[in-house]
Amino acid sequence: MQKAKNKAKKQLPAILGGPPAFEKIIPITCPTIPSTADLFKEYKKIFKSGMLTNASYVEAFEEAVQKYTGAKYAIATNSCTNGMMLTIKALGLKGEVILPSFTFHATAHAAAWNGLKLVFVDCDPKTYNIDPKKVEAAITPQTCAIMAVYIFGNPPDIESLEKVAKKHKLKLILDAAHGFGTKYQGKSAGGFGDAESFSLSPTKLLTSGEGGLVTTNDPDLARKLKTGRNYGDPGTYDSEFSGFNARMSELHAALGLTSLKVLTKNVQRRNQMVTLYKKLLSQIPGIDFQQIEKGNISSYKDFSILIDAKAFGLSRDQAYQALNKENIMVKKYFYPAVHNQIAFRGYPKRDTGLKNTNFIAENSLSLPLFSHITEAQIRKIVKTVEVLHVNANAIKKNLK
Ligand SMILES: Cc1ncc(COP(=O)(O)O)c(C=O)c1O
Repeated sequence: MQKAKNKAKKQLPAILGGPPAFEKIIPITCPTIPSTADLFKEYKKIFKSGMLTNASYVEAFEEAVQKYTGAKYAIATNSCTNGMMLTIKALGLKGEVILPSFTFHATAHAAAWNGLKLVFVDCDPKTYNIDPKKVEAAITPQTCAIMAVYIFGNPPDIESLEKVAKKHKLKLILDAAHGFGTKYQGKSAGGFGDAESFSLSPTKLLTSGEGGLVTTNDPDLARKLKTGRNYGDPGTYDSEFSGFNARMSELHAALGLTSLKVLTKNVQRRNQMVTLYKKLLSQIPGIDFQQIEKGNISSYKDFSILIDAKAFGLSRDQAYQALNKENIMVKKYFYPAVHNQIAFRGYPKRDTGLKNTNFIAENSLSLPLFSHITEAQIRKIVKTVEVLHVNANAIKKNLK
């Protein structure tokens, strides 16, 4: 350890004028696309058929997703946000919705677009997921629903959330944007709550370029979602309610189908790479990790570390600056927390200041992770983090 420390001390961090650790930027994430030759064959068939949207590839994709997740219905959309907006609309929700603030802002946008009053509650300091006890404490006669999120792919405490929802007759919607490939107590994400909405944008393990999927076991909701993604028109040109265009194209569905073939392998690979990251990073003081509860498997859509500025020597923001200078793309997911963003500052914080949310938003940093990242890249990233740690005092002086 001492030998390694001495070596790291000799290396000059890029922020102090040394050469960057990576010649070319290592991205925070990068889609792993299987054989493009196979994909182009499918695209040729689609162009030949003359059916570019909402036809057999979308149907096949929805069937494959039902099979993978075990949910009774899967409805393909053009984004997760639109899937959540339609779900809230189709369930006819009115009043207050309880949701986390430590999430990507799209969770909140979907509810706000439906005119719901947002009630932010705090997250668990270890799993970063919405705390079911705090959810229950925030319920009022106006509450109509709970929204929970698979933060970075880590499933929330679904059993407790389902109990609270049932007890208080509330709907439970899961923002599963990060959740495709996740397992909660042995079961694939997709069949929980009233509905789950997945994102298929390029930063996700399962991608269709852009796109989304809503899964549900409720036949009435499934029908409404299919109608809703087509302006509320069930195919009669007599629209039943105000939907919008949330359809998925055949080209996107073909990419989604191809991406699904490598999903299980990619979840396994990410879990292996995170194990390596954790083993190496644990040697450096001041770095902690999100906790995945026993019996669960995270998709690891993202890998985030929590930085203790005192023990590590640099704050999260200082580490962010220094790592980007090394050509290592890191992100402050999710900062600022949603309740602190301009669009959402006016909503009530029924839960004493959202202490855990603020703390994690201010101290967590996502490191590069994608399904084809190499062990050598991870070792080099960790080495660079160590170089920053041993040179922390000089870096701090330089940043002043
Ligand atoms: C937690 C969460 N919810 C929703 C979304 C929105 O997904 P989409 O871009 O497919 O609408 C994202 C996007 O990354 C997300 O991270």
